[in-house]
Amino acid sequence: MDDTEASKATFHSPLFSFSNPSASFGFGFGAAPGPPPPPPPPAVEVLLSEESPVAAGDLEPVVVDDSLSIYKGRVNTCDVFGVKNSDLVPGKYEGGLKLWEGSLDLVKTLNSDVKDDRLLVEGKNVLELGCGHGLPGIFAALKGAGLVHFQDFNAEVLRCLTIPNVKVNLFKESSQETCTSSSVGFYAGDWSEIGKLLLCGDAVHDKTTNHHTENEGYSGYDIILMAETVYALDSLPSLYQLIKKCLRYPGGVVYMAGKKHYFGVGGGTRQFLRLVKEDGTMQSDLLAEVTDGSSNVREVWKFSFK
Ligand SMILES: C[S@@+](CC[C@H](N)C(=O)[O-])C[C@H]1O[C@@H](n2cnc3c(N)ncnc32)[C@H](O)[C@@H]1O
Repeated sequence: MDDTEASKATFHSPLFSFSNPSASFGFGFGAAPGPPPPPPPPAVEVLLSEESPVAAGDLEPVVVDDSLSIYKGRVNTCDVFGVKNSDLVPGKYEGGLKLWEGSLDLVKTLNSDVKDDRLLVEGKNVLELGCGHGLPGIFAALKGAGLVHFQDFNAEVLRCLTIPNVKVNLFKESSQETCTSSSVGFYAGDWSEIGKLLLCGDAVHDKTTNHHTENEGYSGYDIILMAETVYALDSLPSLYQLIKKCLRYPGGVVYMAGKKHYFGVGGGTRQFLRLVKEDGTMQSDLLAEVTDGSSNVREVWKFSFK
């Protein structure tokens, strides 16, 4: 799917039906099966000031509803990763430079939940995992979140795309918003490593370590957002452990958008759901089902501690 195709699609709520006949559903891997992926890059914080010279250009609006558009840039994958015509290359580039359909499903679901008073974002601590463009996190900031942290596997994605998108939407000169550099944070690295840089929820403090860090007082994230992050079976356990570690206990909620099944890679929303059910700590609710008539359905799920 091209970047712009996602933003052209139309939505019908509350239980969404989504029509975008040109959307593709498989994952295009650039590399043929070969050597195992390299070890993950170290977890690092990326500063707002570290915007790349290859920063996003060609700004275009993504329409959320009649009164809200979020702006996104466009970056050439080849310029940043030297990878051509590829959705992702496992272990090297995990797809963050492209806007995936699930991001928009998630923003529209959040918008609908905020409007209908099912979700309060104002003043909350929010984490977007696997953010890429970061539109769901930006939406949360626009709705008054107290703090938004953006995580991506690749620091380059944060520098070239997420940070420029955050700046253009949240730090406009004309804006009345009170977003400050201390209310956003950017973190790069693998889900198995990144937890040490993020806020920690009480569930982990109480149940496993009983150790309070400098994050004390924050007690984790009230809202964790993620779109199109559950495609690779191998990474689902570390993703779920990270969520349990970082989510505020007991009131935190997770919004997850993704495809029911990712052809060729084995993951999907239902595989993640199976993990959650087997663990038994969290409950799940299906919020939206998004279909274009193809067999590959997209979903938005909400999770919270039991
Ligand atoms: C398909 S992209 C989705 C990007 C964006 N959420 C969207 O929907 O447009 C998947 C994202 O998950 C993240 N990701 C995938 N595997 C990861 C891993 N093992 N550790 C950390 N992040 C990972 C990458 O940062 C990547 O941006």
